[in-house]
Amino acid sequence: MEEYEIFPRVRERRLRKNQAIRDLVAEVSLTRSNLVQPIFVMHGSNEELEIRSMPGIYRMTVDRAVKYVGRGLEKGIRAYLLFGVASHKDEYGSEAYSDSGIIPAAVRAIKKDYPDSVVITDVCLCEYTSHGHCGIVINGQVDNDATLPYLSRAAVAYAKAGADIVAPSAMMDGQVKAIREALDRNGFKDLIIMSYSSKFASSLYGPFREAADSKPQFGDRKSYQMDYRSLRTALREIELDIKEGADIVMVKPALFYLDIISRAKERFLVPIAAYSVSGEYSMLRAASRNGWLDEDQVLIEYMTALRRAGADIIITYHAMHLADLIK
Ligand code: PBG
Ligand code: ZN
Repeated sequence: MEEYEIFPRVRERRLRKNQAIRDLVAEVSLTRSNLVQPIFVMHGSNEELEIRSMPGIYRMTVDRAVKYVGRGLEKGIRAYLLFGVASHKDEYGSEAYSDSGIIPAAVRAIKKDYPDSVVITDVCLCEYTSHGHCGIVINGQVDNDATLPYLSRAAVAYAKAGADIVAPSAMMDGQVKAIREALDRNGFKDLIIMSYSSKFASSLYGPFREAADSKPQFGDRKSYQMDYRSLRTALREIELDIKEGADIVMVKPALFYLDIISRAKERFLVPIAAYSVSGEYSMLRAASRNGWLDEDQVLIEYMTALRRAGADIIITYHAMHLADLIK
């Protein structure tokens, strides 16, 4: 039917009349319970260091991180994703899977004071290896199969420390399967795996690598992280992870990858997490600090777009701040 035959009977603006009407018909919502705040934990005590390229985000010692979680819980942010800043790096990333490493220490301390928090730990080697790669390097190559037992050990160490969810991010084939089997063998059959299933080799991770001191010392991550020209590969990675036992799958980064989130939501029946990465945080902060964008309004629009695309869970460095803006 031609549009002039519909109007004036049909008027789209009726449902935009006022805030209450707009809220009544809104298709998606953004709530604190969907948000995850990442935290960088470092050794030492009573100290925090602002990350140069991420104003407002700090590396924190464990005691400070515990207090930070306490403040977050008070305002409704219950889930935290932990990254470690290593004190010791070697070729095998041994601090990643040591029970006395920074992550197990942080998990124990947070869960002791705040048992109701949801503590998620990244599972990767890049923060702990001297070469900065996510796996074991053999003859100048990141070796897939040799890496799996180390990732499994890390996941078990975090589970023992009390983590609620482990989040493998190394992009090794078979990592979810290896971790699931290791967890099950060690009595953690109910521990949740949130897999970084669809993780692209992105230039948006730059600020994170400054924060976690995890820049590769040679080459790049393109032989294991995905090529951003492909959608089908992303869906395939997600499908494989679900078959291997992932409970939650993630798309990362978020902003430039809304199409992937949307397709994943249509196709798969597990919860979808979107990781709005460090570079996304830095871009918005930089523009806002210059007075070029209204940070709070852009932030809500952005996060709502992730929900509309299909994200159930949103991991964002803005979570603590967002909690002051939404319910
Ligand atoms: C570890 C890891 C990275 C991020 C999350 N886990 C860095 C990388 O892959 O280089 C990036 C997160 C961000 O940029 O906020 N593999
Ligand atoms: Zn890594």
